[in-house]
Amino acid sequence: MNIILLGPPGAGKGTQAHRLVASRQMVQLSTGDMLRAARKSGTEMGKKVAAIMDAGELVTDEIVIGLIEEQLTTTTAPGGFIFDGFPRTLAQADALGDLLDKVGQSLGTVIEMRVDDDALVSRITGRFTCGDCGEGYHDTAKPPAREGACDNCGGHNFKRRADDNEESLKVRLMAYYRETSPLIGYYYAKGKLQSVDGLASMDEVSASITGAMDRA
Ligand code: AP5
Repeated sequence: MNIILLGPPGAGKGTQAHRLVASRQMVQLSTGDMLRAARKSGTEMGKKVAAIMDAGELVTDEIVIGLIEEQLTTTTAPGGFIFDGFPRTLAQADALGDLLDKVGQSLGTVIEMRVDDDALVSRITGRFTCGDCGEGYHDTAKPPAREGACDNCGGHNFKRRADDNEESLKVRLMAYYRETSPLIGYYYAKGKLQSVDGLASMDEVSASITGAMDRA
């Protein structure tokens, strides 16, 4: 089943996508991760988007639709795709529908992760990841079991994102409410929307998401 995880920055989309990859053999398609990889490898496109991402603004529809098209036409996902951070605009949502049709696939469900804005600040400013394996952590909600060492790979190379600060978060939230939140109505009207409480514990959110997928 192909699903979209929809929610503001810090809602827990990436955290839950990683869990679904492990438990359901799904493939995570995160446009944020793809754009960060392009930056890191120094491609022309990566250089073009760096400042936009650091400021918390959205990169162009053309770029992200191109990234998703490339993945959908070259990757197989026996357990289905998880769209994480895509679509983020109505144009991207229309494009995703067309792309899925083109590759003979469909959308199972869209899961809106509901959280309140106050919680997002602490989630975003406390977040860090293992630079070696990508495992995600949080200063208080999910610190590594052994301080300074990744639970997953034992690495010591932790990283914080350049856009994980309060100033950039305000811009990211504004972009979410202006450009992305209309997708809630868009997918509701298509009969695809389900909502979960993103403020619950990580395990409870996982259970709500798998329940929503099983009902779809
Ligand atoms: P992107 O990488 O997609 O970032 P985002 O949407 O801002 O989402 P985040 O990754 O910040 O949050 P998340 O919901 O995944 O939360 P997480 O699981 O990490 O995009 C970055 C930038 O790229 C954009 O600003 C834009 O410039 C560009 N971009 C990307 N896609 C684009 C598109 N389609 N169009 C245009 N531009 C695009 O959780 C956060 C923290 O909370 C973690 O530390 C975690 O441990 C903790 N946590 C998670 N769940 C819980 C829980 N239940 N309880 C307590 N703590 C929790």
